[in-house]
Amino acid sequence: MSAKIIDGKAIAENLRNTIAAEVADIAARTGAQPGLAVVLVGNDPASEVYVGSKARQTVAVGMRSFEHRLPADVPEAELLALVARLNADDAVDGILVQLPLPAHINTDRVIEAIDPAKDVDGFHPVNAGRLLIGLPTLVACTPLGSLLLLQSVHQDFSGLSAVVVGRSNIVGKPVAQLLLQHNATVTIAHSRTRDLPAVVRAADIVVAAVGRPELVRGEWIKSGATVIDVGINRLPQEPGAAKGRLVGDVAFDEAVKVAGAITPVPGGVGPMTIACLLRNTLQAFRARRF
Ligand code: GUN
Repeated sequence: MSAKIIDGKAIAENLRNTIAAEVADIAARTGAQPGLAVVLVGNDPASEVYVGSKARQTVAVGMRSFEHRLPADVPEAELLALVARLNADDAVDGILVQLPLPAHINTDRVIEAIDPAKDVDGFHPVNAGRLLIGLPTLVACTPLGSLLLLQSVHQDFSGLSAVVVGRSNIVGKPVAQLLLQHNATVTIAHSRTRDLPAVVRAADIVVAAVGRPELVRGEWIKSGATVIDVGINRLPQEPGAAKGRLVGDVAFDEAVKVAGAITPVPGGVGPMTIACLLRNTLQAFRARRF
């Protein structure tokens, strides 16, 4: 038996089409247009790629895209001043400051400076806290995308056990909170967990978000489980190859033989993140302007 492959690319495209139709309808009725501001500090190549695709997809669904690029040595005060201007700008419904930021900048201070109503990343303590107490408003994009992929397989998570491998503020913790909110029985595993294979083997749903290439092996997976692989890791370049291979946190070729459903890397969670960012921007727009 081979697992069903969860097609994140297709599900993300569907979501973007729905968003584009809603944006067009709003424009026709009111003339208003949601706007997303993305701030990039420095020129980290991976961040450049993300920011470029965010801007393209924002425009493709009919929203306004505002890009702000600051030099790597920009003083923190200048970045905070830009965030304050974006907070006050009525044409801006969503603000995303691309992470990671250079070491001289206090990331928490920058995130906390963003108006929670415009925090389309869902990273502000107000939004993270609202999710924790069961009042989710703007939810972090990768966790939200992971949930939507899981919902393409499961109608209901009641009675299912879920293991989230990884406890980051950006993915592990919010994904666990979302699953709990949807009635799964949730375990958060991490680098200090004893007998990780046994913990993963007990789960009907596995979400891997640790950033360790192919850490989760096929023999760890319970037969028929649903596996969401959030990791994107580039392996060292092999002789003759232009680049190293992209792999997830799950050994896909092994896991696909055991799981009931699994996301590929690339083409699984990745495409959902930007689609959910656009969804959050539309949500922030509605909440702010209507
Ligand atoms: N860097 C990598 N992923 C993300 C994300 O989802 N949001 C932000 N702001 N930065 C990132």
